[in-house]
Order: sequence, then structure tokens, then C-alpha cells
Amino acid sequence: MLASPLIEFIAREHPAFVHVPLGLVAVLPLAMLASFHPRHGRVLAGTSFFLGAIGWLASSVALFSGLMWGRQINLIAPSGFLPVVASDKQVLQKILQIHILAAAAGFMVGGVCVFLLWRVWNREFGTGGGDHRHHAGRRFWERGVGAPALLVGFLWLACWGFSGKLGGIMVFGNEETNKAAAEADATRRSDVEADLPIRALDYASLEPAESGPSRSKAHGDRWRRIWVTASGIDAYKEGKPLPPGAYAVMSTFTDDKGKPGTEPGPLYMKETKADGTTAFAFYWARVPEALRKDFGGDSVYWRSPDPKLATCLGCHEKGSAMAK
Ligand code: HEC
Repeated sequence: MLASPLIEFIAREHPAFVHVPLGLVAVLPLAMLASFHPRHGRVLAGTSFFLGAIGWLASSVALFSGLMWGRQINLIAPSGFLPVVASDKQVLQKILQIHILAAAAGFMVGGVCVFLLWRVWNREFGTGGGDHRHHAGRRFWERGVGAPALLVGFLWLACWGFSGKLGGIMVFGNEETNKAAAEADATRRSDVEADLPIRALDYASLEPAESGPSRSKAHGDRWRRIWVTASGIDAYKEGKPLPPGAYAVMSTFTDDKGKPGTEPGPLYMKETKADGTTAFAFYWARVPEALRKDFGGDSVYWRSPDPKLATCLGCHEKGSAMAK
């Protein structure tokens, strides 16, 4: 999509570009304030217009680069202008939304400010005759750029200052977002099965619960074999619940005209956690093409508390699943 290296550069350097308009708009109110000086008003009003106009033009590059960057890192849809906040946990999307709205508000306020400054500049330096009264002779709020333009200038700076503060949080994080990210990272790292059911894949190292495969109506009418950890095999054979830390894996293969076939079916896992609760996992490395629509992909890995495992609970919670 973003094939052009130039656009890619403009997008990536958004955090750098924004400092040009922001810096100009930060000194703008100083020049505007100084323009109220009775003797230097004319020159400083011209300076204010120059600063405002360059800042406003430079900001269009910053806005464009921000939009490209947001699209590039998939925070904004390819044809969208704002991120979609789907849940309360999407802190980044929420901050980005306000960041963009504040930046856009600043752009509009800035447009008004530049227009007001242009009118002053035209009056002071234009050829259309205009008002050549000496500055010192004017009422205070009519001197230099005038009080309304000054107020609009402050509002412009406020919008962008706020937007920039949020931008800083998104780039560098603040204490809160950094802590949340570090915590999420730590739990993910300690959860070695976040991406794959590692223990279930190693089922052949467990104790086989039966001597050979048999058919399971309850699990898609597939051929299955059950494997249980050494810590749980006795309880399993007695039909009792597995002790904490023990788990059972059911390996399956698809039916081939009533005989065990060669296509591997899903792996089912049922575990008694240390706190006594039951967790399930369902892993299918290669879903047959005809079933991919039902399973929503060519490979699936669901684990508790995934709502897709509600059907497992429906049978197993009743305790009836233990009846073999
Ligand atoms: C229709 C009821 C039913 C559903 C739905 C069901 N199971 Fe089972 N499950 C059973 C029964 C009954 C057994 C006993 C062995 C057998 O009949 O295959 C069993 C056995 C198992 C076993 C072997 C250990 C044991 O407890 O015997 C595992 C692991 C397992 N199921 C996991 C799952 C998972 C994961 C799901 C959801 C994806 C699931 N089951 C859905 C009824 C069900």
C-alpha cells in the first residue's frame, strides 16, 4: 500500500515533524504580545503573520504524516481518519482519538488565527491604503495584532499543546501505560502456552488410559485415544476427578470409512488447575478445508476461558463425562 519510500519516511518521522509547527505556534503568542508595543507593533504584527502562516502550513505536513503513520501501524483503517475504539481496554486507541481531534481542532483554530493576522498584515503593509493611524494612538486592544487574534493564538497553542502531550504519552508512555504494558508482557512471558498448547502436544509422553483407539461420539465421532499425566492416571481409571495439576489429553484422528484414518484431528485437553477449577483447550493444527468456515480458520487454538469452549463445559461440568 505505502510503497513510496518518501511517504513511508514522512509517516515514520511524524514525532519529529510535529516539532516544527508546534515550535512556531509556541513563539507566536510571544510575537503577538510584543506587537502591542506602541513603537514596534507594525513589524511584530508582520512577524506574527509570518510565524502563524508557516506554522499552519507546516502543520499540514504533520497532520498528513500522522494519518499515514496511524494507517501504517494499523491503528487507523486504510481508508479511515480516526481509530475505532472497540473496547475499554484499548487505551492507545482512545488516546489517539483525542490526540487527533485536538490536532484537528488546533488546525481549524489556527486557520482562523492566520486569517485574522493576514487582515492585520494587509492593513499595515498592504497597498490598499487602509488605516495608517499611529499605533500609539489606538485603543489598547486594537494595537498590534489586536486582542481577538491574540486570544485565538492562545487557543491554537492550547489545542496543540494538549494534542502534543497525548502524542508524547503514546510515543514514550507515561508511568501508567508503561506499567500496564510491562505487566501484560510479564504475564505473557510466564504463560508459555499463550501461543501453543505445549503440554497437550507432548501427549505421547503421558500414560495411555486405554490400550488402543476407540470411537468417541461426544467429540465429533472421531477416533480417539486418551492420555493422562502419571499424577492423575489412577484417579482417572477409578472414574474420580483428576487431582490438581493433573491433566488429560485426547488425541484424535479423522474417520476413514469406519476405520482409523491418517488425518490428525483436534487435540482436546482437560486440566484440573492448582486451585481446583477445570480448564479446557482445543487445538487443531490443520482444519480440513471443508470445515474451515465453521472453525474460522485453517488452524485453531482455543483455551479457557474462551467462550467457544462453552460446549465442553456443558458436558463435562455435569460430571457425566466421567462416566465412560
Ligand atoms: C457431548 C458431550 C461432550 C462434549 C461437548 C465434550 N466432551 Fe469431552 N468427554 C465427554 C465424554 C462422555 C468423555 C469420556 C470419553 C469419551 O466418551 O470419549 C469425554 C472425555 C474427554 C477427555 C478425556 C478425559 C476425560 O475426562 O475422560 C478430554 C480431554 C475431553 N473430553 C475434552 C473435551 C473438550 C476440550 C471439549 C470441548 C472442545 C469436550 N471435551 C467436549 C463428553 C463431551
